[in-house]
Amino acid sequence: MEQFRHSVLAWFEIHGRKNLPWQNPRDPYRVWISEIMLQQTQVATVVPYFERFAGNFPDIRTLASAPAERVLALWSGLGYYARARNLHRCAEIVAERYAGALPATLDELADLPGIGRSTAGAILSLGFGIRATILDGNVKRVLCRYRGIEGWPGTASVAASLWATADRLTPPDRSDAYNQAMMDLGALVCTRGRPACNHCPLSPGCRARSEQRVGSLPSPRPRRTVPVRRCTMLILEDGAGNFFLERRPPTGVWGGLWCFPMFDDTTQIAPWLATNSLRAEHLADLPAQRHTLTHFHLDFVAVRMQTTRPPDRVSEAHSCWTSPNHASDLGLPAPVRRLLDQFNNYLGATRT
Ligand code: ADE
Repeated sequence: MEQFRHSVLAWFEIHGRKNLPWQNPRDPYRVWISEIMLQQTQVATVVPYFERFAGNFPDIRTLASAPAERVLALWSGLGYYARARNLHRCAEIVAERYAGALPATLDELADLPGIGRSTAGAILSLGFGIRATILDGNVKRVLCRYRGIEGWPGTASVAASLWATADRLTPPDRSDAYNQAMMDLGALVCTRGRPACNHCPLSPGCRARSEQRVGSLPSPRPRRTVPVRRCTMLILEDGAGNFFLERRPPTGVWGGLWCFPMFDDTTQIAPWLATNSLRAEHLADLPAQRHTLTHFHLDFVAVRMQTTRPPDRVSEAHSCWTSPNHASDLGLPAPVRRLLDQFNNYLGATRT
């Protein structure tokens, strides 16, 4: 443990980042702003934004009394705008509840909008010089590798074990330098893609390194098994180049879009034709296709049929007969558009 801390701190003296704008001058307010900006964003991107932001809002009260649009304007380009809205709300709360000074306890900080446990730890250690533990993405990677910790860090049990490890290793003094060093090590040496193990001060005791598991740690988020739904589409043509489309109900798959009639399975087609006073003859079964939606795969087969009598109904609010050309003005799901394009090309080719 002592060896670990010593290696980290000694590396920091030589290689750590000590001239970032929020480090000079360093105070809880500037550390807080920088930590929020650094969530999901790299240091090089953050630097100019931080300077502009801190220049315009030099303290919490100025930030709290600024209009929200101005805060968002100075954030504009950094992305993840909920961060800016939380920052502003946080400043208002701190101005009101804490007389404009960020509180100096973990619980009070973590209770504020946009401040999680790790950000609270960073504000305490870097901003107030109080011993506190951090565990951001960079630190998780360093610890997973060093200790050979398996399992996706987003899992509660893995996260708990990482927090316990991080807390044991954080020194009683100089946790500010130590925390900055751990973040810098993760960002500059123990990187995700190509870690520079030869330059790493922790490499002699690193389990991932000795067991050749650097490339596989931290374990990635488990792939969700995506459920598969099956359906049958009825491609009904009138023999004159028109196809029957229905508008989907407003909620559910392809809500509000125009689609071929869809069925759970092929046996439902005949009763549907009867209910709609349609007669049709079978032309072809098209090969099964897979279309992937947000939460599932949709495997569908398409059955082509042609009406043997011209349809009575031309167009209604929720159904219509349309040519592929006219259908392009409607909202169509991608696979329906693709199928209609195929028929359009085919019809075009046979007509010319
Ligand atoms: N990422 C999050 N906080 C950081 C900090 N203080 N320095 C460098 N990278 C960081």
